[in-house]
Amino acid sequence: MTVYRRYLFISTLSFSHLVLSVLQDRVIDDQLGDPFSQFMPIYEPPDLWQQGNGCQNCTLRPSPLDAEQATWHDTSGSSGSRSIQFRFTGVSIAIYGIIAKQNERFTFDMNWSYTLDDSEPTSYTTPSRTGVPLDNFYYNCSLLSLSNLPNTAHTLVMEASLPAPSPESSRGGAILFDYAKYRFDDGSDSPSVLTTDGSFTTIPGSTVATSGTSQTQPATTVPSSNPSGTSQADAKKKHLAVILGLTFGGLAFLSFILTFFF
Ligand SMILES: *[C@@H]1O[C@H](CO)[C@@H](O)[C@H](O)[C@H]1NC(C)=O
Ligand SMILES: *[C@@H]1O[C@H](CO)[C@@H](O)[C@H](O)[C@H]1NC(C)=O
Ligand SMILES: *[C@@H]1O[C@H](CO)[C@@H](O)[C@H](O)[C@H]1NC(C)=O
Repeated sequence: MTVYRRYLFISTLSFSHLVLSVLQDRVIDDQLGDPFSQFMPIYEPPDLWQQGNGCQNCTLRPSPLDAEQATWHDTSGSSGSRSIQFRFTGVSIAIYGIIAKQNERFTFDMNWSYTLDDSEPTSYTTPSRTGVPLDNFYYNCSLLSLSNLPNTAHTLVMEASLPAPSPESSRGGAILFDYAKYRFDDGSDSPSVLTTDGSFTTIPGSTVATSGTSQTQPATTVPSSNPSGTSQADAKKKHLAVILGLTFGGLAFLSFILTFFF
C-alpha cells in the first residue's frame, strides 16, 4: 500500500509537469528574424542574397501577400555555394521557401546538405512541391524538416551549390527562403517544480541526422545571441509557469487524494 501511495504521489507530480510543458511554435522570419531570441538568419555569402520584396533587379517575383511578413530572401543569378544558418532552442524545425512553378531561367531542384550542431553533413535534394500554386509560385514549400531533437540550443546550417547554366541545362539555380518555424518546449526547463521528477527534462533517442554522432550538446556551445530582454521575459514566464504548476499540481493532488483515499 505504501508503495502504491508513493506511486500515486509521483504520478501527481508528473501530472503537474504535463500542465507546465507547453509546446509553442515560433517563427524565424527571413528579414525580421526571431522576435523571441532576436536571432537573425545568417546568409552566406552575404552579398549574393537580397531581400526579394522591393528588390529592383530580382527576376523572380512572388507575391508579398503570400509570403510570411511579406518578405523573402533571394539568391539567384550566379553559380556556387550558398548557405543559411539558424540558431534556435527547440525540439523540431522546418525551413520554408517559395518555388516557381515553371521557370525557363531557374531551377529550384538542388543538391542540399544540412549540418545540425556537431554532426556530419547530411545530403538531400529539394523535396517535391506540395499544395496548389498561386499564380506561378508554390508558397510554404518545406525545404527541410527535422524533428525529435533534444530541447536544447541548436545550430543548423543548410547549404546548396547553385548550378551554373550549361549546354545541357540553360537554367541557373535559385533559392527563395521565406521563414523557418521551430517548436519550443516551454516549461521543461522550469527548475522549481519540475525537479521532483527528473525523467522529463530530456527527450532521448534523437532520430534526426543519419550520422551516429550524439545530438545532445550543452547550450553553452552555441554563441549567445540572447539579449537580456528575452531572458527577463523568460524568467517571468517561468515564474508564471511555476505558479500555474503549483496551483494545478496542488489541485490535481487534492483530487487524487479525494478520489483514491476517501
Ligand atoms: C542587384 O542590385 C544590388 C544593388 O544595386 C547589387 O548589389 C546586386 O549585385 C544586384 N544583383 C544582381 C543579381 O544583379
Ligand atoms: C502559408 O502558411 C501560413 C501558416 O500556416 C498560412 O497562414 C498562409 O496562408 C500560407 N500561405 C499560402 C500562400 O498558402
Ligand atoms: C545533383 O547531384 C547529381 C549527382 O551527383 C548530379 O547529377 C546533378 O546534376 C546535381 N544537381 C544539381 C542541381 O547540382
